[in-house]
Amino acid sequence: MTNILVTGFTGNVGQEVAKALRIKNAPFKCAVRNVEKSKVKFGLDYDYVRFDLSNPDTFEQALENIDKIFLMYPPEVRGPEALHPFFAKVKEKGIKHIVYLSVKDVQFLPFIPHHKNEKAIKAAKIPYTFLRAGYFMQNLNMFLLNELKENGRIFVPAGKGKTSFIDVRDIAEVAVLALIGGTQHVNKSYCLTGKEAIDFDEVAKRMSSILGKKITYTNPNARDFQQYMLQKGVDPGFIKVVTNLHFITKIGLAKGMTNDYVELMKKNPTAIDTYIQDYREYWV
Ligand SMILES: NC(=O)c1ccc[n+]([C@@H]2O[C@H](COP(=O)([O-])OP(=O)(O)OC[C@H]3O[C@@H](n4cnc5c(N)ncnc54)[C@H](OP(=O)(O)O)[C@@H]3O)[C@@H](O)[C@H]2O)c1
Repeated sequence: MTNILVTGFTGNVGQEVAKALRIKNAPFKCAVRNVEKSKVKFGLDYDYVRFDLSNPDTFEQALENIDKIFLMYPPEVRGPEALHPFFAKVKEKGIKHIVYLSVKDVQFLPFIPHHKNEKAIKAAKIPYTFLRAGYFMQNLNMFLLNELKENGRIFVPAGKGKTSFIDVRDIAEVAVLALIGGTQHVNKSYCLTGKEAIDFDEVAKRMSSILGKKITYTNPNARDFQQYMLQKGVDPGFIKVVTNLHFITKIGLAKGMTNDYVELMKKNPTAIDTYIQDYREYWV
């Protein structure tokens, strides 16, 4: 029987992929850096294996009896060829399929790691599905959470740019379809976005209305954003990633929408209002 390795299990998308695989009764292993910590946090019902993309010694065991991989690229793993040792091992083990979490419009962004990772997967002739995802709705309950809770504001340097927010639960559904849905998904790229593009001002309005609590979008410029975050002790590398991500939004490149989710799942992607309602406990 096909056995799937889920990387990033403790994170946003990997967690949802694991939940969605469970619903389908598909056998999978959870690749984590710290097995003991994961057992405490996520329980003993999962099958864990130690896996660290920065440590090739962990690859052999993690890939034992594995046919397919949900692969996410952790923002912490840096360097243009950081994943190459892993791809070499995947090739050596004859893995049948990698479903790789990439980013929307990656084909036009040669300077970002996802572009290089996609190229390396193709060059190694590893059967793939690329999930080129737009901006996650869940950023609002992850790295935007502190400012939302402490100061009731969305604090990102995104200007008035619009974003076609996607729910990571929708990405996970497509990942599972690609993993267990047959060979028609092999060597395909899917661009996953939500069904509407809105700016952060509108997000703040919707949050205020749904949560019954005043939320504003303060629209800092990149320099003020960076200075404030540095002074709060946020990692400079992470601040740079977040600034760049929202620069793309600011110049209007995050607003594009596609129909890939609808075509694959035969339904509409999750609306941002639904997401805010479902996750309301984070902000109230
Ligand atoms: N945020 C967005 O809007 C957006 C949009 C499109 C695409 N993406 C892409 O999505 C990815 C992030 O996904 P996410 O939000 O699900 O991640 P996340 O919640 O930030 O979680 C990161 C995961 O990576 C794991 N990890 C960290 N270092 C590792 C290592 N050396 N080896 C193996 N695993 C390691 C972490 O596990 P530990 O528990 O061990 O720390 C954790 O499970 C990035 O590649 C990003 O570019 C993001």
